[in-house]
Amino acid sequence: MASRNGQLQYQSGFGSFFATEALPGALPVGQNSPQKVPYGLYAEQINGTAFTAPRCENRRTWMYRIVPSVNHKPFRQIEQGLLRGTPFNEVVTPPTQFRWDPMPIPEEPTDFVEGLVTVGGNGDASLHTGVAIHFYVANRSMQDRYFYNADGEMLIVPQLGSLRFYTELGILEVSPGEICLIPRGIKFKVELLDGKARGYICENFGPLFRLPELGPIGANGLANPRDFLAPVAYYEEAEGEFQIIGKFDGKLWAADTRYSPLNVVAWHGNYTPYKYNLAYFQAVNTVTFDHSDPSIFTVLTAPSGQPGFANVDFVLFPPRWMVAEHTFRPPWFHRNFMSEFMGLIKGKYDAKEEGFVPGGASLHNCMTGHGPDQPTYEKAISAELKPEFLGNTLAFMFETFYQIRLTRFALETDLLQTDYYKVWEGLGPRFQKDWRPEVSAQA
Ligand SMILES: [Fe+2]
Repeated sequence: MASRNGQLQYQSGFGSFFATEALPGALPVGQNSPQKVPYGLYAEQINGTAFTAPRCENRRTWMYRIVPSVNHKPFRQIEQGLLRGTPFNEVVTPPTQFRWDPMPIPEEPTDFVEGLVTVGGNGDASLHTGVAIHFYVANRSMQDRYFYNADGEMLIVPQLGSLRFYTELGILEVSPGEICLIPRGIKFKVELLDGKARGYICENFGPLFRLPELGPIGANGLANPRDFLAPVAYYEEAEGEFQIIGKFDGKLWAADTRYSPLNVVAWHGNYTPYKYNLAYFQAVNTVTFDHSDPSIFTVLTAPSGQPGFANVDFVLFPPRWMVAEHTFRPPWFHRNFMSEFMGLIKGKYDAKEEGFVPGGASLHNCMTGHGPDQPTYEKAISAELKPEFLGNTLAFMFETFYQIRLTRFALETDLLQTDYYKVWEGLGPRFQKDWRPEVSAQA
């Protein structure tokens, strides 16, 4: 059973082939679908890739369950609050720099699904391309209802409050500073361990998140595979009145069922939820000069069809040493091909003195200029360049190949900082036409 403070059991390894049973002998030996399954269970396969996907990408899991997933009433469409899906065409998105204050915790009773608020996205879920970016805010646990997402896998980044995910494949507890991934199709419910919760979600419609290639970094570094944790088998033997909420084609649907869908007594496979502690990310950056491209901080990447152009990257800006010599140390000014949505889990981000706060967010779309704000710039060009530990920070980015289109909520909410552009207004000309290089004494 679940208990807080690290007493849950996990299995270690990214994309590993796991085998786990909550009752001894529940896993069939030597075959997947025997005529008679131990304990009178049903065998059921779920896959996250096509049957014929290359072996290195192929993901599937065999479940041995009390009732097969097919046993439920028909789905009916339900109210979906501020949750949006593709196509993102509610409003026209200008190429402006955007920044938002954090979502307040609602006063009305709101569970994880009711508290999903879409900021924007791109692509087409039905064609398995693009992403949606959501905030979540909640003040109560999900009761007698279970959620699954047919449109994409969900990378969940808590910012406030610990969550316990009860999934078909077992239980994961996730706190701010950790992330959790729930695969497409896996049913789950969310319990709040601190009474309130807030965070970010990247819903990936494209190929599954994976670890980035390491190239010359070598066999180790960045996010190491063994630090990704999958749950062990856990089941509820519950009969009653339950609801399955599905997200399919951007809409929410509900179906009644008599059985808790968390009835998997044993399973084996490599298509699983997982969690990861961001403190285990081994950051790599310059030990000489200049600021490496932020791709060096990629935790997980989901490719598009074009090599090197990610459908979406999850990029972390962790606590780290800054040691670059004769270098402007904050991120440089830039305009990127990729579109950048940023969030802040705690502390301060090194390119912004004020305004970008934990729980808040920013968006710099394709080719939109951005970079350090004026106070950061002034400080950086006159700073003494001694080694400095940037400890009070944990920012991240969802960076995507496709332009991000906003929802009406994102564009019209009072949380939008309409004066964001002013942080760069003071960056006027510093041009000195009569400037000459300093001549050293030896010359
Ligand atoms: Fe950027």
